[in-house]
Amino acid sequence: MQNRKYFDSLINKVAIGNCLEIMRKIPDGSVDVTFADPPFNLKKKYNSYYDKHEVEKYLSWCKEWLYEMVRITKPTGTIFVHNIPKWLIYFGSYLNEVAIFRHWIAWDAMGSPLGKTLLPNHYGVLYYVKSDKDYKFHDIRMLHKRCRACGYILKDYGGKKDQMHKFGPIIPDVWTDIHRIRHKKRRDEHPCQLPVHLLERLLIMSTDEGDIVLDPFIGTGTTAIAAKRLGRKFIGIDIDPKYVEITNRKLAETESTMINGCYVSIFLDNVTTVRSKDWDKIKEAFTIPHDPFELEKREIKLRDKKIKKIKPKIIIEEQCSLLFPMTIRRHSTFHLNHK
Ligand SMILES: C[S@@+](CC[C@H](N)C(=O)[O-])C[C@H]1O[C@@H](n2cnc3c(N)ncnc32)[C@H](O)[C@@H]1O
Repeated sequence: MQNRKYFDSLINKVAIGNCLEIMRKIPDGSVDVTFADPPFNLKKKYNSYYDKHEVEKYLSWCKEWLYEMVRITKPTGTIFVHNIPKWLIYFGSYLNEVAIFRHWIAWDAMGSPLGKTLLPNHYGVLYYVKSDKDYKFHDIRMLHKRCRACGYILKDYGGKKDQMHKFGPIIPDVWTDIHRIRHKKRRDEHPCQLPVHLLERLLIMSTDEGDIVLDPFIGTGTTAIAAKRLGRKFIGIDIDPKYVEITNRKLAETESTMINGCYVSIFLDNVTTVRSKDWDKIKEAFTIPHDPFELEKREIKLRDKKIKKIKPKIIIEEQCSLLFPMTIRRHSTFHLNHK
């Protein structure tokens, strides 16, 4: 009872503290998704955390929070862990004993040569569930990949062009359409901030509106922002008060991102992830060529081009309902940050 009260007090908040101490007070099976992006033990320059420990010490610490993540995740829930392959293979070998492996998601990252190695070009997201039958999962789609110069769809659909999905294919386990944040103006003062649309993709796939997502290493709040944009609840934890302050500032300006009542992920004026089952409801928001040969040549576009140029949120919503019989609600800083 005491723990349940404590748990309720954490919802939609970002706690300052040691994630192990906080998670230990959370009852078993309380949250729908746990996502962790821990320090990589690579001497990254955090504000206060020291990121270089003996390998043994680092791995045994990781085992402790991995155990807590699995324990507090609901039986129908999902566990995601983001890291470099070097550490993920240890995490996977431990998680295999206590949860059920679904995928190793590889996402594109520009690496730099490290001497006598291959060029490291991806980060991994381990994707585990607690039950092999009764776990939450939604089919998700991404935009067709196209040639940057000529705009043509890269995949050759040959004689099956008429069967091409108008939005794009089912998302595979290699994500090359989401990149690290490269521009300074889009970064917070944090060495390892993840892109919000990475988290949004994971949450659209694994949760529903109102579900609870916990991130024990929230940094400057990427998971909380994604959850709030998608109408999910969140619990964030970080040991550094400065990062929590930045997160709270961003959260105060965050609103949900919906098209026609469906949550979607948007980055740089493009919808990056939708649920397959939502497509029929949101397709009227796009200009879509009818002829499959045209679709092969031209990207589908959101129809509200004019709206995207208007910054203040209140005007966006008014314009929206005047121009289209649908609602597109957008996160106001999205416009400010991504123009
Ligand atoms: C890789 S970063 C997470 C970045 C985050 N995903 C984002 O997009 O901003 C790891 C974070 O873990 C925090 N941290 C380190 N040790 C911690 C602990 N024991 N409990 C809670 N947070 C901790 C650091 O302050 C750092 O912000």
